[in-house]
Amino acid sequence: MTNFSDTLLQIKDRLILSDFIRKDVELTLKGREYVGNCPFHSEKTGSFFVSDEKCAFHCFGCGVSGDIFKYVMLRDGVTFPQAFKKLADLVGIELIENKSKQKNAGIYKVLEAATDFFEKNKSIVTEYMKKRELDDLTIYNTFHIGYAPNSNELYKYLINNGCKETDITKSGLFLEKYTNKFYPRFKERLIFPIYDRRNRVIAFGGRVVSNGEPKYLNSPETEIFLKHNTLYAYNIAYENVTDKKPFIVTEGYVDVITMHRYGFNTTVGTMGTALSTNHLAMLWKYSDEPIICMDGDDAGQKAMNRIARLALTALSPGKSLKFCLLPNSVDPDTFLKTEGANAMHSLLSRPISLSDFLWEEYLKELYKTDRTPEKTALWENKIFKDLETIPDNTIRRLYKSKIRSSIYNLNHSKSQRVIRKILNASAYKQLSVIERNAMCEYVLSYILVMRPALVSSMIEKLSYITFSNKSLRNFWNFIVESDDPSDVIASDKFSRVVEEIRTTGSKFYQINEQSDEELLNDWIFIFDKIVSRPAEKKEQEMASKEFAKSGSEKSWERLKALKMYSIQVQRGKNA
Ligand code: GTP
Ligand code: MN
Repeated sequence: MTNFSDTLLQIKDRLILSDFIRKDVELTLKGREYVGNCPFHSEKTGSFFVSDEKCAFHCFGCGVSGDIFKYVMLRDGVTFPQAFKKLADLVGIELIENKSKQKNAGIYKVLEAATDFFEKNKSIVTEYMKKRELDDLTIYNTFHIGYAPNSNELYKYLINNGCKETDITKSGLFLEKYTNKFYPRFKERLIFPIYDRRNRVIAFGGRVVSNGEPKYLNSPETEIFLKHNTLYAYNIAYENVTDKKPFIVTEGYVDVITMHRYGFNTTVGTMGTALSTNHLAMLWKYSDEPIICMDGDDAGQKAMNRIARLALTALSPGKSLKFCLLPNSVDPDTFLKTEGANAMHSLLSRPISLSDFLWEEYLKELYKTDRTPEKTALWENKIFKDLETIPDNTIRRLYKSKIRSSIYNLNHSKSQRVIRKILNASAYKQLSVIERNAMCEYVLSYILVMRPALVSSMIEKLSYITFSNKSLRNFWNFIVESDDPSDVIASDKFSRVVEEIRTTGSKFYQINEQSDEELLNDWIFIFDKIVSRPAEKKEQEMASKEFAKSGSEKSWERLKALKMYSIQVQRGKNA
């Protein structure tokens, strides 16, 4: 027996379908097929046909059909692998699973021994690991980071631990042999073992610890390591995934580890290769909407764009992706270390949907052109060609109608128009949704910093905003608590933040001779349109919890005020 499909065919060959089904159903020969009463719905007319030639059954009454595996699945209510196993046992074929287990057991053994070897050499890079905050004991016990020294000891170590040369050759740990010697692939590299879902080491990633090329080196594909089937830390993350905690997908090894360290333990990594449809299937198996969170640089943006387009070709009802774009070209590792877990929470709590992300990407493409009718038509055609790749009819129809209305709104939407009038349109257009949110936080800050007298009337609203930027958050927390905002704004302690607010804010918003009222109008418009909604909802949730708990007059007043506020915003919007 060589492979799975051979086994499948052998099972079909050896078991005669009509004989097999006859144990459950009385069958009579009719022409070249057998007929009986369908075992899957109640009937007296005999609509159930079995063909030994085609190795298939079909019921004209209830529409079920399939082969012998399907029959067992339906009859016994089991999955395909279970049905397969039952039938394989019945015909006495050894399961290929066992075979491959046996076949590859030697390679697994090599990789496990190598993991030990690398772990034993870890002390050489203590300093480096400390510097990168990888020296934490839980990290060490979870990810088993090691070090490949500059020596040829690995081969000896493997042999001494009972590994066979043929398995060592297949392990991917050594370079192609020129002579009889085994040259280690990894030397002077920090080693990240890569596990399969069943917690077996199947490959390694290695990072240079000083300067060198390439920065990262991975095991080559082997009999047990296929890149399109592997996600870094999937073995840990999938167990932590729940309805409320979807998978988070990042680019790098270190990103994954830092995410886990900060509590985002559903994070997996793509290890620098493009995401495949197989990867998507792995993610969708446990999460309806995994969040893609790549580096905030051009490469990360491009990777997300590719993933979005790939996802289109694999969408099914209920399954999609969300996107989270990090600001300032940082990666999740750096973002967490500089901004902290709360800022990450706040970003991850408002990711963009796949359809919005794509629309943003399409918009950027459009704005790169001069938007003549011809070029716009070309752009539109391309979009709809992309949408044709959606396999599900309903989703495809909904995407098309959503994009059509976005295209329509492009020229008609009030909020887009007003926003572009308020803000510097050309700078604004180049930003993604998340960058826009971040930018609006700066503009809101900017207006108040320039006119501190307006702070007091906005103090209530300010407390609704969860600033995603840490220094802005600190700054406003301080102001909300203080007696005189002008003092805080003028203080040395915040001079750098204020400077940053001025430079970034003025890029997007001009303050000339507007009256206080005009400024406030703009401020509220930006606040309502962009910043307030998620924070406000959270606030309401908290307030109603508080009311449910204490039932106090005060908590009721607060809840009422929040509800009234939402209603006003809603009315304002519809007016
Ligand atoms: P640090 O610099 O250690 O923080 O790593 P990083 O994860 O931030 O690296 P980077 O953003 O440069 O790359 C992200 C991921 O892409 C890495 O974790 C690797 O999986 C992969 N990668 C980066 N550089 C290379 C390379 O030179 N070769 C290969 N094969 N993969 C790479
Ligand atoms: Mn990175």
